[in-house]
Amino acid sequence: MKKVFYFLLIVPVFMVGNNACKKKTDKPITKLDTAVYNPTAYHFVNPYDFPYMQFSSANPLTIEGIRLGRMLYYDNIIDKDQSRSCSSCHLQENAFSKPGNIMPHINIGYSSYFLWNGGVSGTLEDAMKFEVEEFFETNVSYLISNADFQYYFFKAFGTKQITSQQVAYALAQFIRTLVSGNSKFDKFMREEVSLTQQEMNGFNLFYSEAADCFHCHGVMLFTDQNFHNTGLDTVFTYENEGRYAVTGNPMDKGKFKTPTLRNIELTGPYMHDGRFNSLEEVIDFYNAPTVMTATLDPIMSKPGHLIGLNLSDYQKQSLIAFLKTLTDTSFTSNTDFANPF
Ligand code: HEC
Ligand code: HEC
Repeated sequence: MKKVFYFLLIVPVFMVGNNACKKKTDKPITKLDTAVYNPTAYHFVNPYDFPYMQFSSANPLTIEGIRLGRMLYYDNIIDKDQSRSCSSCHLQENAFSKPGNIMPHINIGYSSYFLWNGGVSGTLEDAMKFEVEEFFETNVSYLISNADFQYYFFKAFGTKQITSQQVAYALAQFIRTLVSGNSKFDKFMREEVSLTQQEMNGFNLFYSEAADCFHCHGVMLFTDQNFHNTGLDTVFTYENEGRYAVTGNPMDKGKFKTPTLRNIELTGPYMHDGRFNSLEEVIDFYNAPTVMTATLDPIMSKPGHLIGLNLSDYQKQSLIAFLKTLTDTSFTSNTDFANPF
């Protein structure tokens, strides 16, 4: 029965299409000519206990917009020289980062400051406008001359004029869906699993004054979305001036955006310049005495930090074990985020 039904449905439509085409013009009818703009709203699921994501009313998430954004993310057609795509630096297996100082794309739909120094601010749509117009200098005429993209842009936005704003909007829609909230830690918070004794030990250090990580890397995003000088350097030059480059305020020298610690096991080397190769080196840095400077964060100039946290080897290993509970393999293996080509 089913086969007969499809046969009856498809064949006449195809024949009518062909005839109509012959009457008007010799050009074959393209997918775009017959496309209907009827986008499907995407149902965004916020993970347990996450803050609300602020969406842009001008750019509601749709299945078609996200599909287009994902294609653009993985295609170097977006590049002026057509040599790079977002995915050439932001790799899914590394939580959308890559060894170096490349920032991961994890839960950045919740951010309003972007880049290590917060040089781009506003909505994710604004950040994507910057990426498309300033960083990639996207040439929309490449996209316009590509019949497939013409079709997918129409399905997403309902117009046949492709603009750089639409490129930015589609990318923002896809990146908003790159949400990581299903790590062992999340399952523990939802009371689905328990942590090992060592992970629990690390959890307690992380959330107490003993290691004092939670003030800046707080739940559930593991970033306070703010800028701090953690005492990595005492002399500030062009390379490490951080937020000062954006604000011109001397009190911002050496301050960088607090990075999320989600999937931290996968995003090394660490810090804005990738100076630490391992989590062991990071913990050794936080454990060591901090040198006082004018812009050092008040938390880092607490007596405990100035003389050093004095964590035992077991405590340091426990912190690392806890950090590894933030790895979310359902994020790095989610086929909805993978290369669509
Ligand atoms: C050549 C490598 C490279 C490519 C290609 C690339 N990026 Fe990045 N991306 C980086 C680096 C490096 C940083 C951190 C730069 C900084 O802060 O100075 C970054 C940071 C970002 C951030 C800020 C993240 C945050 O948490 O603040 C966003 C957003 C971003 N990239 C989006 C994109 C998009 C979208 C594309 C494709 C259109 C793209 N990137 C292509 C290297 C790259
Ligand atoms: C005063 C705020 C603050 C405190 C307290 C703090 N951090 Fe950070 N953390 C930051 C900032 C800011 C950065 C980025 C610094 C940079 O690159 O210059 C960072 C970077 C990191 C990184 C590297 C992330 C990456 O993607 O490269 C790790 C790992 C980390 N912190 C773990 C911890 C742990 C563990 C603790 C507790 C022992 C801690 N932090 C305490 C603010 C803080």
